[in-house]
Amino acid sequence: MSIKTIGVLTSGGDAPGMNAALRAVVRTGIAHDITTYGINRGYEGLINGEFEKLTARSVSGILQRGGTIIRTARSERFRDKKFRDRAMEMCKVFGIEALVVIGGDGSYRGALDFLKEGMNCVVIPATIDNDISSTEYCIGYDTALNTALSAIDKLRDTAYSHERVAVIEVMGRHAGYIAINDGIAGGADAIVIPELKYNFQQDIIKPIMEGRNRGKRDHCIVIAEGVGDTAKICKDIEETTGIRTVCTILGYIQRGGSPSARDRLMASKMGFKAVEILNEGRFNKAICLKDNKIVDIDIEEALRMEKASFDYDMNLAKILAM
Ligand code: F6P
Repeated sequence: MSIKTIGVLTSGGDAPGMNAALRAVVRTGIAHDITTYGINRGYEGLINGEFEKLTARSVSGILQRGGTIIRTARSERFRDKKFRDRAMEMCKVFGIEALVVIGGDGSYRGALDFLKEGMNCVVIPATIDNDISSTEYCIGYDTALNTALSAIDKLRDTAYSHERVAVIEVMGRHAGYIAINDGIAGGADAIVIPELKYNFQQDIIKPIMEGRNRGKRDHCIVIAEGVGDTAKICKDIEETTGIRTVCTILGYIQRGGSPSARDRLMASKMGFKAVEILNEGRFNKAICLKDNKIVDIDIEEALRMEKASFDYDMNLAKILAM
């Protein structure tokens, strides 16, 4: 069966590089005589019928733009079959034969539900959290990692000057990838992530005090937002150590900005691959980076995969924190 019309949407938290993926989907489609409809506001737009035909020109000048020009949403309604049926009707009206979903694991679950209703889907991993187990890389992660790292570097400068502890909260409600990798890249004394239990004395106070005893006068603690109350941890550090401790919550700044070269490249390759798969008549696939190659696996299998352990990186971070 040769596909003639597809839809594409971005869903969940936005990620730098989503636009580059969208551009690749539309232009690869054109190369195969496939018409692409952009669906605004993720699954919400799918339910509401917010479809717009995209041309090579409608995706020009977006490669370097952060966010997503077709906007995104987290749709509660799409969990309900009644609304998925309505979305299916909308797809029929526009002649959509397959859907490309660009987003994180919530978006993958939406695609899995929709394919059970009979829609062909391909999913592209895009989340700054980088927490989709089936792929070694998610679009947006590199840009977010570098945005947070440049903030950490700046905060370390001022912590050094004032001989303070800088506590920095990075994004990751359920995932510690930004925290652990920026903690290592930024030279943190301690890193706290939601996936691993921590002991306040052992994992935060001890490295600070050991550093002091070795002559260190400034300290940096990187915490993922999912750990809990970062401001309280900050206060507790100051009370326990007697060292002035300042808290910075980086927040949404990590989600915006022009995508890095890596994100633009990954997005272009993954967007291209998604449409190639559909053009070959293969459906219900998740695009993945594996051993530095862009490959695909079944969406169901992708959602069953487990995350790799953080133990190795955490151990290395502790050793290098001296
Ligand atoms: O995009 C992923 C993420 O940034 C998480 O780390 C964060 O917890 C969440 O999105 C918050 O996004 P929102 O407030 O838009 O739901």
